[in-house]
Amino acid sequence: MLETVVPKKQFLSDKAALFTESVIREMTRQALLHGAVNLSQGFPDFAAPAEIKRAAQEAIGADFNQYAITWGTKNLRQAIARQTQLWQGIDVDPERQITVCCGSTEAMISTLMAVCNTGDEVIIFEPYYENYGPDSVLSGAKPVFVRLHPPHSNDGEWTFDEAELRAAFHSRTKAIIVNTPNNPTGKVFTRSELELIRDLCVEHNVLAVTDEIYEHILYDDARHVSLARLDGMKDRTVTINGLSKTYSVTGWRVGWTIGPPDITSAIRKVHDFLTVGAPAPLQEAGAAALGLPPSYYESLAANYRARRDRLMPALTDVGFRCFRPRGAYYIMTDISAFGYANDLEFTRFLVKEIGVAAVPGSSFYRDPQDGAQQVRFAFCKKDETLDEGARRLCKLRG
Ligand SMILES: Cc1ncc(COP(=O)(O)O)c(C=O)c1O
Repeated sequence: MLETVVPKKQFLSDKAALFTESVIREMTRQALLHGAVNLSQGFPDFAAPAEIKRAAQEAIGADFNQYAITWGTKNLRQAIARQTQLWQGIDVDPERQITVCCGSTEAMISTLMAVCNTGDEVIIFEPYYENYGPDSVLSGAKPVFVRLHPPHSNDGEWTFDEAELRAAFHSRTKAIIVNTPNNPTGKVFTRSELELIRDLCVEHNVLAVTDEIYEHILYDDARHVSLARLDGMKDRTVTINGLSKTYSVTGWRVGWTIGPPDITSAIRKVHDFLTVGAPAPLQEAGAAALGLPPSYYESLAANYRARRDRLMPALTDVGFRCFRPRGAYYIMTDISAFGYANDLEFTRFLVKEIGVAAVPGSSFYRDPQDGAQQVRFAFCKKDETLDEGARRLCKLRG
């Protein structure tokens, strides 16, 4: 028998070699392996609203079981357009401006693939949601990072330096990604920060791609402003959002883009050939979800505020320095007090010895050293889960 020796890596693309598996998702696997309380990945461990589960069951019962229109069912697109007008005062044509995708994850990669050429630069605020790194690589773009600086006091805001941001814009800049409310910092970009970003986008003819998936999860009177509603941004913004976080259905995989018609046409083509479409019955349920009354969104935010205020003192108490989030459902912490060489060593110890899974801060930075003394905790969990996590973390006191 002929033996052929296949050199290792012969079949792998250069692109695939440029990034690793998601560290966040790996931490969930570690939590399962070690029986740890999972405060790592951002998914709720409590029930989704009964109304929308019923709507999904009814949609399957009514045989919404075949491919939907590739860019999304009419009902869902109409509901998105209606709510975007209600919440942000933005007029959207559901026929020409919305593309429903398999989660905002696919919405982001489809958008970047639709707009980026090899060598284009994409500005990303750092620390950043880890998907944006691989998204840039896969779309051929070069990420250019602008630092969000942690506040000096635990109660302060993460900020960026205007000069640093200005310096990141130049002739090769194609787009800037703005995630507000922000994962992992909990920052909610202010209107004046967004106006500065707007001015730079207009001056340099740059597209803004916003990830607004935590739009309704806000604390301490923080207000969410969509970049698309600022003067001059309607035709140069792609807004990304989805069902995952607002309706506690991260496993449903329904998200969307809202953008100008010409960019939407390009996104729709990429989306069609990547996935054909998002799950049809869950899109119907999504249309029902978007019709929930204002009280739903008020209690969503109030319940998350209570969870934040439950976990944060427990973390502070055992030695973490917490940066108070104004939105989203994560607490970024500084772990210097524990004297560990780096975040990976510390989170390994946490998951194996303490029984709590958290995300190493380095996974949110290009240079792991920059996040080596930071760890992120998710608080989208039941009170019992948070309390059990806090109980286990008490062992750190010793
Ligand atoms: C900022 C941000 N964008 C997108 C996602 C993923 O969203 P989806 O479930 O809609 O793909 C997450 C999930 O944690 C996130 O934190």
